[in-house]
Amino acid sequence: MRIYEAADYRGMSRRAANIISAHVILKPACVLGLATGRTPVGAYQQLIEWYRKGDLSFRETRAVNLDEYRGLGPGHPQSYRFFMQEQLFSHIDIRPENTFIPDGLAPDADAECRRYNEVIRTLGGIDLQLLGIGRNGHIGFNEPGRAFELETHLVDLSASTRAANARFFPDGAEIPGQAFTMGIKSIMQARRILVAVSGAEKAEIVMRAFTGPVVPGVPCSILQLHPDVTLVGDRAALAALRKTGARICG
Ligand code: F6R
Repeated sequence: MRIYEAADYRGMSRRAANIISAHVILKPACVLGLATGRTPVGAYQQLIEWYRKGDLSFRETRAVNLDEYRGLGPGHPQSYRFFMQEQLFSHIDIRPENTFIPDGLAPDADAECRRYNEVIRTLGGIDLQLLGIGRNGHIGFNEPGRAFELETHLVDLSASTRAANARFFPDGAEIPGQAFTMGIKSIMQARRILVAVSGAEKAEIVMRAFTGPVVPGVPCSILQLHPDVTLVGDRAALAALRKTGARICG
């Protein structure tokens, strides 16, 4: 595993965007696995800037997102489809038909999970999967549990995840209790994984993820078993990991 430390969120975002753009430049038709949440927003802004300058094109690129709330459609401001349009897709030249996110309104959840697994397979798998980490160790919406769930599935969101995500919803709005998420196997089959972390509140889970035991109770700990993981973080998020003696590049 490579670990890169940046001074702050801006530097971390720039480093993450650098790694993503390198993939797009070297393989324009690559398959990017993308994430929502607060962490990747700065990297997306950087990619948009490079696209606007003419340094980067996503014309051939395919994007497959990790997850979507059940019950929220693409027009809902808190849906992940809406987020991706706002934060990235509508500002770059990616073809809409090359962007994939689970359908939060699908009436048959099992059929939607099967469809999404097939989407990933048909794309030929994921070249680079971008991940954030939840404070409880979730990746995608793979919540702490008793087993690593393998493929796309419907999850009941934990109270802590719903509380953490309440910041994205207007006051008093109902936060969905379920979400579709890619499974651990789909994530682990990505050829490369890029984990982005920022802020002191992630320090402890980052340390446990990469130095603790590999257990389903800490879903991100499975990343220790992936052969090609790059972790980019700001100083605050990497502080506890650094204390364990992990080798960190500047
Ligand atoms: C988002 C996702 C989540 C987030 C995680 C961290 O698509 O799958 O696992 O990556 O909750 O969220 P932030 O970046 O908001 O701290």
